Order: sequence, then C-alpha cells, then structure tokens
Amino acid sequence: MPEPTMSSGRPPVEALAARAASEAPATAPADRVAELRRQIAYHSARYHQDDAPEIADFEYDALVLELTELEASHPELASAVSPTATVGAPPSPAFAPVQHALRMLSLDNVFSVDELTAWGVRLERLLAGEPEARSAVAFVCEPKIDGLAMSLRYERGTLVRAATRGDGTTGEDVTANVRTIGVIPHELTLPATDLPEVLEVRGEVYLPLAAFEELNRRQLEAGLRPFANPRNSAAGSLRQKDPAVTAERPLAFFAYGLGEVRGGPLAGRGGPLERQSAALELLARAGFPVNPMIRREAELDGVARYCAEALERRHDLDYEIDGVVVKVDDVALQRRLGATSHAPRWAVAYKFPPEERTTLLKQILVSIGRTGRATPFAALEPVVVAGSTVGLASLHNEDQVALKDLREGDTVIVRKAGDVIPEVVGPVLAARPPDAAPWRFPTTCPGCGGPLVRLEGESDTFCINVDCPAQQLQRIAHFAARSAMDIEGLGEMRVGQLIGAGLVHDVADLYRLDLEALAALEGFGEVSARNLLAAIDASRARGMTRLLVALSIHHVGPTIAAALAAAIVDLDALGAASEEQLSAIDQVGGTIAASVVAFFASERNRQVIEKLRSAGVAFGSDRYRSPTSEEAAPLPLAGRSVVVTGTLEGFSREEAEAAILERGGKSPGSVSAKTFAVVVGAEPGAAKLSKAEQLGIPILDEAAFRRLLATGELA
Ligand code: IVH
Repeated sequence: MPEPTMSSGRPPVEALAARAASEAPATAPADRVAELRRQIAYHSARYHQDDAPEIADFEYDALVLELTELEASHPELASAVSPTATVGAPPSPAFAPVQHALRMLSLDNVFSVDELTAWGVRLERLLAGEPEARSAVAFVCEPKIDGLAMSLRYERGTLVRAATRGDGTTGEDVTANVRTIGVIPHELTLPATDLPEVLEVRGEVYLPLAAFEELNRRQLEAGLRPFANPRNSAAGSLRQKDPAVTAERPLAFFAYGLGEVRGGPLAGRGGPLERQSAALELLARAGFPVNPMIRREAELDGVARYCAEALERRHDLDYEIDGVVVKVDDVALQRRLGATSHAPRWAVAYKFPPEERTTLLKQILVSIGRTGRATPFAALEPVVVAGSTVGLASLHNEDQVALKDLREGDTVIVRKAGDVIPEVVGPVLAARPPDAAPWRFPTTCPGCGGPLVRLEGESDTFCINVDCPAQQLQRIAHFAARSAMDIEGLGEMRVGQLIGAGLVHDVADLYRLDLEALAALEGFGEVSARNLLAAIDASRARGMTRLLVALSIHHVGPTIAAALAAAIVDLDALGAASEEQLSAIDQVGGTIAASVVAFFASERNRQVIEKLRSAGVAFGSDRYRSPTSEEAAPLPLAGRSVVVTGTLEGFSREEAEAAILERGGKSPGSVSAKTFAVVVGAEPGAAKLSKAEQLGIPILDEAAFRRLLATGELA
C-alpha cells in the first residue's frame, strides 16, 4: 500500500517546531519555556473555552512539541503546572462544575508511523518482564474522532450526568444539552442482571459533516458568520446555555471507553473491565454507537497498516477524524504502564498530516470570468496543506469576504479537506496588524477599467463591458474547451496569444483565422497551425448543445443546454423564444429563462451569432438528441442518472457531465433513489457518498466510469 505522507523523513510538525526553535536562537531556554507556556495557555483557552481557536491544531501541536523537547533537555525547567503536565483548560463558570471520579486524560501524539512503531516497541520492551504480558501486547486501533470528549454517568442504567472533560479533574455539567442528542441512550439497553450500580461511559460528541454543511448554510442565510470546522460547531452547539439550541443541531456520539464502574456483575475474566475490546462490545450492547472501523491488531505491523488505511479512508467518512488512537487492549497491562499527569502511557494518538494551516493573506485580488463575474481571491504566502502548496484561494463574492471579515495583511486559517479546493476559513483576529483596513470591492474592472456592478439582491458583482479583454480571454478559452466546442490545442495561453496579436476579438473570429497569420506566431510552426485550423474546422459540426454550452450564457451548463436543445429545434428558434416559453421547458426555471432571453437581446451577442452563422457553424442538428443514421444505435445511458462527485483525473466536472449527456443520460447534482450510479473522484462530497451507500447505489471509480461510458454497463 502506498504511504504517501507517512515517509520516515522528519514529520512536518517536528520541522515546524524545530524551525520555531531555531528562529528564537537568542532566547534563553527559561524565557522560551515561559513564552511557550503563555502561548499554549492562551490558545488552549481559545480552543477549549471559546470553541474558537486562533491557530490550526497542527501549529498548536508544534508549540507543545517544542515545549516538551525543551523541558526534556532542561529538566530543571519542568513544572507540574506546565501544559505538558496538565489536561485541557479550566471549566467555564457558565456551567456547574462536575468532579470526575477518574481523571479524564489527554493523549500524547506521534506524527509518523516510525514514531508510532517506536512507541509500540518501547511498550513491549517495558512489559517484557511483566507476568501479565503472557504473550505479545495486543492493540486496539480506533479512529480519533475530532469532536469533544464527554463523560456520561449512568446509575442503575439511567443517565444522570453528562460532563465535558474540562481540566481533566473538573468538567462542565452539560446534562440537559446531552439529553437532546438522539443517539445517546437515556436508559442502557442491558438486562437488569448486567447493570452495574454506576457505569461511566466516555466518548466523543461530534457533528456529522452533512449536518455541519447544513448548519453553515443556515448561518450564511441568516447573515451569520459560518463555523470554522465541525469540531468547533459541535463544541459550540453542546456548550449552549439553552438546550433548545443544542436540540436543533443533530449532534452524534461514539463511545470509546469506560470511566468509573461500581458494583454489579461486569468483573469477570476477559470481560469489559479486563480488555478494551470487550469494553467496546459491552458499550455496543448497552445501546451506544461504537465506531465500526475499530479493529484489534495483535502486531505493531498491523497497527501501522491500520493507520495507513484510516488515512486513506479519512474522506470517505461522514465525520472528521484527525488521527488514530492506539490503545493497549489488556487492562492489567494498562494499569502496569500507568499514566503521567497529562496522558496514559498505554495509549497514543497517531496524528494525520494537517489539513489546516495558518498563513499570511498578502492581497485580495479580483479575477474576471467569462460571464464577466468578478470573483475575489486571496493571494497567500504559499503554505503546504494536506500535501500540496496553496498560494491562491477563491473568496467567492463580496459578502463572503465581509462575513469572514478578511483583510489584507491578516493571518488566516487555510483549510483543504473533504474537497481539493482550498478554502480560507477566517482571520486570526489576535494577529491582525493594527492598520489592517476592511477590504472594499473594487469599483473598476482590473481587465478593462470599466465599472463593476452588483445588482440589487444578487451576491455576485460583474464587469458589464462585453468587450473586456479579460472576459474575452475566458470566453474564447471556454468556447474551445473539451465540454464545449472541443477544439484541441486551443488552451488559455494560445487564446491569449491570439487576442494579443489582434487576430481574434470574439469566439466567431476563430473561424476566420488563416494559416499564414497563425504560423507567424511565436511557438507555432506550419504543422501546429494546420492542426489548429483543422480542429477549429471540425468544431463547426458539434451541434446545438455544445454550442449553447460554448456561448457562456449565464446559468447554462451542459445539463440545461441539453434540455434546451431537446425542446427547441435550433439556435434561431431559441433566440426567438419568450421567457414564458422557455420556463415551460423541463429543468428550465425563471432565472435561466431570463438569462437566455437577455443573452439573445444583446446586440453584441446577436452580431457574434451572425458571424458564427456565416462561418458555417451548425445551429441545430444536435447529436446528443438526434444521432445520425450510422450512430442511431440506442444511447448507452439513455434515461439514466449518473451523479459525479469529487475530482476525476481525466475529466473536469463539465466534461464528465457532457460525456454522460452525450450518451443520453442525465447528471443531476444530488443522489436520490433514482440515481443509476455515483462516480467518485478524489475528495468526494461526504453527503453524496453516504446517501449512495444508504440507498445501495453502485459507486464507480474513474476506470469503471470510463467503462460505463463506453458500454453502458456497470462493470
Ligand atoms: S481515548 C485516556 N479514544 O482525543 C484516553 N480519545 O487528544 C483518552 N478522542 O480527549 C481518550 N477519539 O476527546 C480516545 N477513540 C478515541 C478518541 C479519543 C477522539 C479524543 C478525546 C481525547 C482526545 C485526546
């Protein structure tokens, strides 16, 4: 199995900690230790008390690692109140305090498989002489759920108290809120004879990804700031003064261990008090969700394999995991190993590479798209997130920038998870330079200097000059794209060259290019010029659907283009149709109808259409709809719905959609019982995937998708 990010080289968190240490060479160790403790206490309070961290987990881990290493090399600086020797943060006075019967500890981290194996080997060596270590030590591997730790106390089978971890000794009483979590039993489902007097269950409260996305959609609709990540929203949802608010958030729970167990019949050889694996079985019988990925591994090799598998499956899950927790299965051995004041020695957290980092937002710029839409984007100090370098990130529109209150010069949290598209989560307010001014959307287009206009009630801003060179470039490149007129060899760079040389001003000019002018351009020879002209020539016959996609009509992508072409005979008839006639077409709503009418009402667009007509571009005869006689065989996907999610290597989203439509199928944006198959690329949408799994819909990878396109068969 490939282990892309788990090489034995220096793990990035250590590199970060080492860099921070080397950047502070003049500081005496005692001063650096004090500074690190101050920073860690500050960030721990933001995370645990405010549910609003200001740095990424990875950077927090790096501070702790640097402090741990300094304390190890300067034992005289160690302290019982150091964050390396304590747990979490003090409980908030907003909740009644709860004393934990047994301390709720944290976990020590490892950041690579090598470190994990070293931990395991150390344990085995430590236990080699122990009478309990009859055979080699066995481990239980559990996904590390990114939520918040919870203690649930049951007395004679009834839930009486729920508390957060707090500082490990004292937590916060959140019983009323926890009672609103549907999956947490109010009564244990154990036979009366199996009920202990007291059973304390420990586990993680989390917010499923689909619920998180829905919650943030509602936040945005209400004009509220979105939550940074599922963990913060879960913690914020749970630590509410009003349980009715918690009840509205579909929180979930995984049980992962036992706390206090008093009285009753559970003690027994190999039973839940003797093995972690048996404790998990008991928890499932008692009515708790227990993570289905948990696996017992007898050997360290198996543990390493488990970690690699969990990392691979990370984004297939409907909840966030940030690593794997590895625990010694045998409780007697756990007792032998004991714990520090901070964490048990019998368990460790293998942390995945980070998907969130902080970096500098150097500038907010605006790019102009083919419909004239002006999209703000962030120019970032490049940072490696989830294995790739991120330097640019779309900020979507003016409201998004304002809601997140992003300013040039801010330190921002950048996230790249669940989706390959990087996202700027929000600013770190504490690091904001005093002179950072709120960002204003520019009033003029960076491409042509014309006005940028935002219509009432719309979130997007547009450059309304159809001759804007920035728009032209995008429009012509899109016209030539594979999902549109499919002109091979005509990418954005060449289009830029053609515009720069004054050879094309609009898409119709492509059909007037001549060999001599083309061959004279830098990088072109006679052969490549001829090839390009042949590709342009071939595109004349693509037909109405592709032409509609190619024309960059606002809201008209492959699906709508195919619906229009199926209902209307050719481009001229479409141009003559009224909004009312268009709205009557299946899948075409009022907004789309208005956009099509507005497109054909524009004098400039009509001129381009006339130029296309005189260039011999086909306006009707759609091959998606009416195959010519030699290809009249039934289309392989006729009447079938194929949903695409995630990034495919060989197709853009539009290309995949076009390929499905071209074969008679449909490609809607969501999964339903009618979906024929779901094609899954890298980083798919968790909601689509889990819906497909629930409904038992076939899930295809890219190779199976290609076979489906070719044969109409599910391999
Ligand atoms: S065991 C003494 N198991 O990770 C053992 N913790 O960084 C401590 N967590 O406070 C907990 N999934 O909130 C354990 N399967 C799992 C876990 C898990 C998530 C959290 C838990 C804990 C934190 C430590």
